[in-house]
Amino acid sequence: MDDWQDKTTSELLSTDLFGLEALKALDAADTTEKREEWRIRNLGRRGALNELMRRISQLPPEERRTEGQKANELKRRFEEAYAKAQQADRERRLAEKLEEERVDVTLPGRPAVRGGLHPTTIILRQITSFFQSIGYQVVEGPEVELDKYNFEMLNIPANHPARDMWDTLYVNPPEVLMRTHTSPMQARVMESRVAEAQAAGTEPPPVRVIVPGRCYRYEAQDATHEWMFYQVEGLAVDRGLTMADLKGTLFAFARQIFGSQVKVRFRCDYFPFVEPGVDMGISTPEIKGGDWLEILGAGMVHPKVLRMAGYDPDQYTGFAFGMGPERIAMLKYGITDIRQFYANDPRFLEQFIS
Ligand code: FA5
Repeated sequence: MDDWQDKTTSELLSTDLFGLEALKALDAADTTEKREEWRIRNLGRRGALNELMRRISQLPPEERRTEGQKANELKRRFEEAYAKAQQADRERRLAEKLEEERVDVTLPGRPAVRGGLHPTTIILRQITSFFQSIGYQVVEGPEVELDKYNFEMLNIPANHPARDMWDTLYVNPPEVLMRTHTSPMQARVMESRVAEAQAAGTEPPPVRVIVPGRCYRYEAQDATHEWMFYQVEGLAVDRGLTMADLKGTLFAFARQIFGSQVKVRFRCDYFPFVEPGVDMGISTPEIKGGDWLEILGAGMVHPKVLRMAGYDPDQYTGFAFGMGPERIAMLKYGITDIRQFYANDPRFLEQFIS
């Protein structure tokens, strides 16, 4: 059909021949570009068909009608043939693509990677579930804390030398800081229980709470110190609680976590918010050949702390404790460096997938 311009009107008007040639040319157009060229040449605005129509319009009226009908029929055939060719091409390309990207469903599947709990989470769950089983409630508190709760209400006034025990990261000094321990929740919990009791016109209720959560210290990191770590605080307040309750509770806890062979020992320690204060060590033949290992600080809640939070120390006594779950996990799993906990190394973490 390349030379339709050179055709005479009568040659063009012999639409059968003209159509035959054009359709052959379309069959031979084997690429999208060639088909597009064909479309422009034949069906385009300045294409053969329009030229044919123009010439028909110049024919004497008696011929115009029959020739016009033939030309319209030709146009319909061209359009249909062109659409078919395009469709066949699309189908061929789809078939090729499907062949290329064929999935062999008989190949063995890739196993899904199984996640697991972080060792801190495992220990936190063990700790909280033990205390829940003996009637403790789990509460959480703010990580960005006020000096008032982190220190003041724990009997650590400004400029008290005991503040050196906690290297503090300040957010907005001197009032707002990252809590250095979970102990501020002792004061917050007692204060809110007293407020509720006052509103209800009742006596302050007994308290049994456990507080898991993150703590932050401006600390040089080493194998046993992180700048961010977890603690679990415990607080029990009631009439007539004694050191025997503290020891019994923590001994039962140690047996639950470290097994029935565990022995515990309490030695004097100093924390401004308890009196007396102790640290508890454990010894079990399964860990470090039975060496004594310190796992938490504890003590009887200081009368001043009870009074500041609104509990009358002549009526109520209490005990509190604070432990580091990472250190407990280190003992249980034989982890030698605390920095591995939050380094996000899958080789370390995968070991705890059960
Ligand atoms: C305290 O923070 C007291 N609030 C604990 C307490 C509560 C005593 C209630 C009495 C009554 P201490 O600074 O020792 O104490 O920290 C308690 C535990 O937190 C430690 O035994 C340790 O397990 C963990 N811990 C402390 N500092 C770090 C650290 N930098 N990295 C990892 N764990 C730490």
